[in-house]
Amino acid sequence: MRAVVQDEYGEAHDVLRVAEIEPPAIGDDEVLLRVHAAGVERGAWHLMAGLPYPVRAVTGLRAPKTPVRGREVAGRVEAVGARVETLKPGDEVFGICEGAFAEFAPAKAAKVVLRPDNVTPVQAAATTISALTALQGLRDSAKLESGQHVLVIGASGGVGSFAVQIAKAWGAHVTGMCTTGKVDLVRDLGADDVLDHTKQDITDGGRHYDAILDIGGHRTLRHLRRALTPRGCAVIVGSETGGRLLGGFQRALWTPFMSLVTSQRFTGLISSENTADLQELATLLSAGTITPTIDQTFPLDRTADAIQHLQDGRARGKVVVVI
Ligand SMILES: NC(=O)c1ccc[n+]([C@@H]2O[C@H](COP(=O)([O-])OP(=O)(O)OC[C@H]3O[C@@H](n4cnc5c(N)ncnc54)[C@H](OP(=O)(O)O)[C@@H]3O)[C@@H](O)[C@H]2O)c1
Repeated sequence: MRAVVQDEYGEAHDVLRVAEIEPPAIGDDEVLLRVHAAGVERGAWHLMAGLPYPVRAVTGLRAPKTPVRGREVAGRVEAVGARVETLKPGDEVFGICEGAFAEFAPAKAAKVVLRPDNVTPVQAAATTISALTALQGLRDSAKLESGQHVLVIGASGGVGSFAVQIAKAWGAHVTGMCTTGKVDLVRDLGADDVLDHTKQDITDGGRHYDAILDIGGHRTLRHLRRALTPRGCAVIVGSETGGRLLGGFQRALWTPFMSLVTSQRFTGLISSENTADLQELATLLSAGTITPTIDQTFPLDRTADAIQHLQDGRARGKVVVVI
């Protein structure tokens, strides 16, 4: 099969190349997918670059143990493992796999669900890890309720573009923060107010928020605190600092300590890849409650360009590789 492979860690254009390799074998609880579309998310860059370094404890110390990246997927089930009872060959699914930048990829049966008929493979592939993170950040971490005020920092990106739509659908008052050129996008997503981070601070606008979903910009916890209500909650989803040791994760490490000394709540998020929430995304997509913002699609042999486009901060919403 054709796949985008890497033998060493590094930047997309330095280490990725298209190659003919053997299709992957599947385990008893896995399915083999013929990949239609693969979402590009920041995790793909981290796994490709092997950064921050702790990533390598899982992916391989000196070089990647497996050659193909890409985890967000939409595809057709070609074969099922011996213990898989929920899916059959021919099913059109979407979810999370290993090695989506290829013609075929293996996925745990528990990490893919049926793709609704009214949702395209590109839309579905764009709506897996990013939307799962937005859903869990607002629902499980922030415990957002109707009528509450939420600030989404990084509202124009993969996670943020879903967070704005989900929070609006739940009846929250949404303020989105992004850069100047993406203000129109965040408004179109449904944000009630938009802050331009090149000109404004999170405390501008004279509002305190019941919840902050922090997806970009790496503001300190003390800084976030100033924009929260006395019992508000800040959810640290991520940020790209370029740090090779912790890569922006240090704020999440501090959240338990901050929560100890204030009436506000601080929490880090690590999204959970589970069937029930993927099913929930299928329902939200099918009903039109969320619609992925597709910035651009790239063919498989331009996967390096797709990853670099996201890494350069140019994407408005999601980037998808079409196979
Ligand atoms: N915890 C988890 O389980 C989990 C899951 C998924 C992703 N993540 C992490 O979450 C982060 C975002 O992921 P993503 O896929 O949404 O990335 P993305 O699509 O590249 O979006 C990044 C967002 O950050 C915003 N941003 C950049 N600089 C900013 C600043 N100074 N102030 C405010 N916003 C700023 C960008 O807005 P502009 O372009 O408008 O400036 C953009 O909206 C990454 O670090 C990723 O690793 C964590």
